[in-house]
Amino acid sequence: MNHLMETARLMLADHKGLLAMDESNGTCNKRFASAGIEQTEQARRRYRELIITTPGLRECISGVILYDETIRQARADGTPLVKIIADSGIITGIKVDVGAKDLAGHAGEKITEGLDGLRERLRDYFQIGARFAKWRAVIGIGNGLPSPACIDANAHALARYAALCQECGLVPVVEPEVLMDGGHTLAQCREATERILRSVFDQLAAQGVALEGMILKPNMALPSLTYPEQPTPAEVAEATVGVLRRVVPPELPGIAFLSGGQSGVLASERLNAMNSKFKAPSAAAPWTLTFSFARAIQQPALEIWAGKDANRTAAQQALIHRAKCNRAARKGQYSS
Ligand code: 13P
Repeated sequence: MNHLMETARLMLADHKGLLAMDESNGTCNKRFASAGIEQTEQARRRYRELIITTPGLRECISGVILYDETIRQARADGTPLVKIIADSGIITGIKVDVGAKDLAGHAGEKITEGLDGLRERLRDYFQIGARFAKWRAVIGIGNGLPSPACIDANAHALARYAALCQECGLVPVVEPEVLMDGGHTLAQCREATERILRSVFDQLAAQGVALEGMILKPNMALPSLTYPEQPTPAEVAEATVGVLRRVVPPELPGIAFLSGGQSGVLASERLNAMNSKFKAPSAAAPWTLTFSFARAIQQPALEIWAGKDANRTAAQQALIHRAKCNRAARKGQYSS
């Protein structure tokens, strides 16, 4: 247990955060296609190599989350990407779910799969060098949704995953994501977020997961992306920390938010508002509040790179800029 707590502590230390770069091949290819980049294994490797060799990355990023393909890839000279990551003082994480599938009997809802054979896969990833893992559940808001069945099934799977991670020596990052699709209000998101988090913490307790050795990766409480009235960062901070305070025990060391389709600037502003208002960790917010963003850190860099070596440096500058912005937001010192 001590080594799990130590890994979690390092993941949250020095006002750093996590960089999610664990898009499945399908998702990565979709993003490449919109940026005019060829969708090949080699292009994905070149892009991931660009990210992990960004100068100064370790000043802002404590851990990176990889996909199965990436954790097994090597640079052209044969150096494994995991070695480059470890040599730069960054902790390797790995996405271990195998994706969200239709939930039987519940039209429009998903259940995340990947528990079969997970113990063996976790042992293998530990051998390769991973020290933490990620599992993402997706919860949609809509006509009568999310259903109790969807919430319970996903919370149960998250808790079984988390228990297996701890048994295998990996810190579980537990990600129940309430999606920003649709036309819902902030209040509806807050309510759905509270329901899923309550169920997740009930299930974590039932499965014997030690909260001291895990990290929660939730969504912020937000209206849908297309909702006409968008809240101020202060309102998002109030609503998000309000839900967390009602549900999340203080033993949990840290909360690392996903960005979920927000722009890089908005995600930083909202994280900044939480940290400046609540001075986390504090009595008002007893956990570290940090980031585990994918799109909100990567998107500008991906568009600048566009698959061309000539754009590499400019892309790395865009990436480190957003990483620095989020480190500032952790201190409540960000301004756009
Ligand atoms: P976004 O920050 O793009 O939502 O991605 C975070 C993540 O890891 C999703 O599982």
